[in-house]
Amino acid sequence: MSHKRVAILISGGGSNMVSLVDSMVGDHPARACLILSNDAEAGGLKRAAERGIPTAAVDHRPFKGDRAAFEAELLRPLEQAQPDIVCLAGFMRVLTGGFVSRFQGRMLNIHPSLLPKYKGLNTHARAIEAGDATHGCSVHEVTAALDDGPILGQAQLKIEAGDTADTLAARVLVWEHKLYPAVLRRFANGDKTPVLLP
Ligand code: GRF
Repeated sequence: MSHKRVAILISGGGSNMVSLVDSMVGDHPARACLILSNDAEAGGLKRAAERGIPTAAVDHRPFKGDRAAFEAELLRPLEQAQPDIVCLAGFMRVLTGGFVSRFQGRMLNIHPSLLPKYKGLNTHARAIEAGDATHGCSVHEVTAALDDGPILGQAQLKIEAGDTADTLAARVLVWEHKLYPAVLRRFANGDKTPVLLP
C-alpha cells in the first residue's frame, strides 16, 4: 500500500506536528516525509529527527520581508520531498497567494479559534474579552485569504470563569492534538466531511 506523503511546516516547539506524526502509523493512509521550519532552532526539528523524519530549515530573516524570495527557497525542500499533502502546524509566516496556489486543495492549517471568529493572533484573549461562553480550534484548507478556507474540523470547549489566555490556550491545545490527527486521517482518505469534537 503506498501511503500519501505529508510535509509539515512548523515555527516552534511542534507539539501539533508530533501529534500528527505519532498518529500516522498502522493502517493510517499517510506518512510524514518532511518537517520544514523557518527557524533552524525550532524545538520541533529535534523532535522530528528523533522520530527519524527528514527535516529542513529555511530562515526567513535574511530575506528582510521579501516573501517571494523566501518562498522560492522554502519550495526547494518541498519540491524534493514531493508531498501529496502539506500541513501547517504552528507555522507563523503568512504565505502568499502564489505559494498557496501551488498546493491548492491539499494544504491544511490548524488555528486556535472557532473560525470564522478571531482570525489572526491573540485568539484566546479576544474570546475572553468578548465574554464568549465557548471557544476552541479549527482545521481548515489554506487559501490565499488568511485563516479563511473551508473548515475541515472543529473542537469546541467551554470558557471557564477565571480563565486567562494562558489557561484557555493550554486546554485548547489538548483538543488541537486530537482534532488535527482526526482531520488528517479523514482528509488523506479523500473525505472532506468536517470532524466535530467532542
Ligand atoms: C498552536 O496553538 C497552533 O494552533 C498555533 O500555534 C500553536 C503552536 O503550537 N498556530 P505547536 O508549535 O504546534 O506546539
